[in-house]
Formats: sequence, structure tokens, C-alpha cells
Amino acid sequence: MAIKSVLKMGDPLLLEVAMNVEKFNTPELDALILDMQDTMASLDGAGLAAPQIGISLQVVIFGFEKNTRYPDAEVVPFTVLINPKITPLTEEIEEGWEGCLSVPGMRGMVPRFTRLRYQGLDQHGNTIDRSVDGFHARVVQHECDHLQGILYPMRITDFRKFGFTEVLFPDQNGIDE
Ligand code: NI
Repeated sequence: MAIKSVLKMGDPLLLEVAMNVEKFNTPELDALILDMQDTMASLDGAGLAAPQIGISLQVVIFGFEKNTRYPDAEVVPFTVLINPKITPLTEEIEEGWEGCLSVPGMRGMVPRFTRLRYQGLDQHGNTIDRSVDGFHARVVQHECDHLQGILYPMRITDFRKFGFTEVLFPDQNGIDE
């Protein structure tokens, strides 16, 4: 379909709560998902939420086999997740570095639940119900936050661990969004 431009932090649409998807297998939804896939692939992203390309609907995509922006991360299966619901399965919180295509050139240390269950629908309206941990759980929390109008800098608790990728990680030349 098409590579869309990604809205950047400061755009009010990124702060909205997105609306539920009501109808599946429509040309509009199929086109949105293809646009999101093309856009995420073109930017080598780990995930993307519909509001990031200007569509305020409860749709996220994520997953990768090997992501150059997160070279140490485990494989996460490619997933289209619609109308998601997240239930933490632990009170354990872990800090980890995150970046965002809407906050280009920066990384921050973000606390997230280490284990959670996520439920929702795929692009055809089939049920998704998974319990995950590690980087998979982190990506899901990051992407689903976008649907609530939350960007990862709003989750940072220690702003000494927030900065420009090229300064924080000088050895990772060329690895950036
Ligand atoms: Ni993001």
C-alpha cells in the first residue's frame, strides 16, 4: 500500500485515546494494516500503533525476527492486535531501554511489567490470547500505551536515563530509527 509519515511527539493526536474497531475485513481496515506494515518495515521498527500514522483506532502491529535497533532482543512473532486488553501477571517491574518512531533519535529507560497476558483480535476478528514475558511483554506495553495516548517518555521515572541515542550508545552507529 503506502509508507505513511509517522507523527512525532507534540502532535495532539498521539495523546488521544483511540477508538475501538467495530468492523473487520473491511477495505479500510485492511488498507490501514498494510500501510502500518509498510511504514514499520521502512523504518525498521519493532512495532507501530495506528495513531502514529494519524488513525485513532485501537490497532497495533509488532514483531520481528532480528531487529537492528534492538540487536539483543528475542524474536517476537509478527502480530496484528486489535482492541487489546492487557492484564499484568506479576507485580515485578523491570527497567529497559526503549525508543519510539514518534520520538526519533532518543532512548529512555522505562519500567514495565515483566509478565502479562494480552487479549484482543487479529485483523480478521479472530481471538488472540497470549501470556508473554521479556521483550515481547515490553513491546506490547509500549504499543498498547499508544492507544491510550501515552508515549514512553511519560513513563520514565529517572530522567538521567533519557537522551539521544548517538550519545547514549555511541558504538551503535547507524542503529537508530
Ligand atoms: Ni512508540
